Amino acid sequence: MLTTRPRGTNDILPGQVEKWQYLEELARKISEQYGFKEIRTPIFEHTELFLRGVGEATDIVEKEMYSFFDRGERNITLRPEGTAPTVRAFLENKLYANPQPTKLFYIGPMFRYDRPQAGRYRQFNQFGIEVFGSHHPSVDAEVIALACDFFARLGLRDLEVHLNTVGCPDCRGKHKEELIAYFQKREHELCETCQKRLHKNPLRILDCKSPVCQEISKNAPTTKDSACPECQAHFADVKEYLDTIGIKYTEDPRLVRGLDYYTHTAFEILVKGIGAQSAICGGGRYNGLIEEVGGQPLPGIGFAIGMERILLILEQQKLFSLQESNPDIYIAPLGNKTQALAFELAIKLRKKGFKVEKDYLDRSLKAQLKSADRFQVKFVVIIGEEELSKGQVILRDMKTSAQTEISINNLEAYLEGRIEE
Ligand code: HAM
Repeated sequence: MLTTRPRGTNDILPGQVEKWQYLEELARKISEQYGFKEIRTPIFEHTELFLRGVGEATDIVEKEMYSFFDRGERNITLRPEGTAPTVRAFLENKLYANPQPTKLFYIGPMFRYDRPQAGRYRQFNQFGIEVFGSHHPSVDAEVIALACDFFARLGLRDLEVHLNTVGCPDCRGKHKEELIAYFQKREHELCETCQKRLHKNPLRILDCKSPVCQEISKNAPTTKDSACPECQAHFADVKEYLDTIGIKYTEDPRLVRGLDYYTHTAFEILVKGIGAQSAICGGGRYNGLIEEVGGQPLPGIGFAIGMERILLILEQQKLFSLQESNPDIYIAPLGNKTQALAFELAIKLRKKGFKVEKDYLDRSLKAQLKSADRFQVKFVVIIGEEELSKGQVILRDMKTSAQTEISINNLEAYLEGRIEE
């Protein structure tokens, strides 16, 4: 156990970390271009926030939350998602007092006690955005456009945007009744979970993976059939905005999201051909959530992208060609008397902005050159006792293997010129 990480978690090792940094940098850059500001909320929140925000009858709240009582007997949950915490922070910090809308983005770990498999983890990272304070359908389209732009800049192929309207509370109520009436006729055929869901949250049956439930769901009434004229009009406008900018989408009247807060537009972006965990982005409108969490009735919309899934796909589609960050210079001291100078020189050159690696193990020149080669450095500074007594070091150009003696005093200026080359 001591040397095993908890199930469903990942170590991100050197070599992988650079890929994460690249993704995070792109997420920040694109968010800023679209006018979003970063927010960082706590990793844990009061459990109540998710009960109210995400919804008590959802899978997340029913069986996936990491909840515990802290030493002060407070009921705490490791955040399973970022929308409810962002809404909480918006209200607590009175961001609504600023000119609206408020556009925020976040990047960070989320926690769900899910069954781990490739692309599904218990600690995973999301890049999410949220817009509070505008009903305008162009905002829905802009949110979807940002996600598509992010994927396009990564070069991802074979994406599909699935789009639906889940309606407003009025038409959702109607849809719920229609679904209950429909599924009740075949209640005994539904899986055990869906039999329990039937009266609490029949929408989730549409999302069930059991083949029988899927078969029964095929002819179930859709949100589209029950959407009221206002919801239909909003949805039509969103589609028109997407058409204007050439974003292709598939209308999916069976798309229901796993969180309760959604109203109107709901969407998912899927990658074809990667199997079960194909959703790389999920989002939609949540016009009732801010009020539910205790604020004024203000609309909201956003999405979250699963970063681990993006990395898996980038690897599958062979889209990563990151240059590893190698040191410029390797310092190779030979013998005890040269150690002090090697130490000083490394620190001095680093302060000048060079990336410097050195030997720490008193190894032979051959072994040190082998390390330098592995680091793919451009130059090795060899410090021998004899040269040192003359105030000189040997500079080895690793590309040509040429070695020149050079005065220690001139080394820095010389390296500056050569490394820039
Ligand atoms: P979600 O659909 O639950 O939505 O999650 C969004 C994305 O996070 C998924 O499409 C997937 O890529 C990734 N994801 C979810 N669970 C896991 C997991 N166990 N392991 C790895 N990746 C996972 C939300 O979380 C909403 N808060 C999105 C949103 C923001 N809606 C409006 N604003």
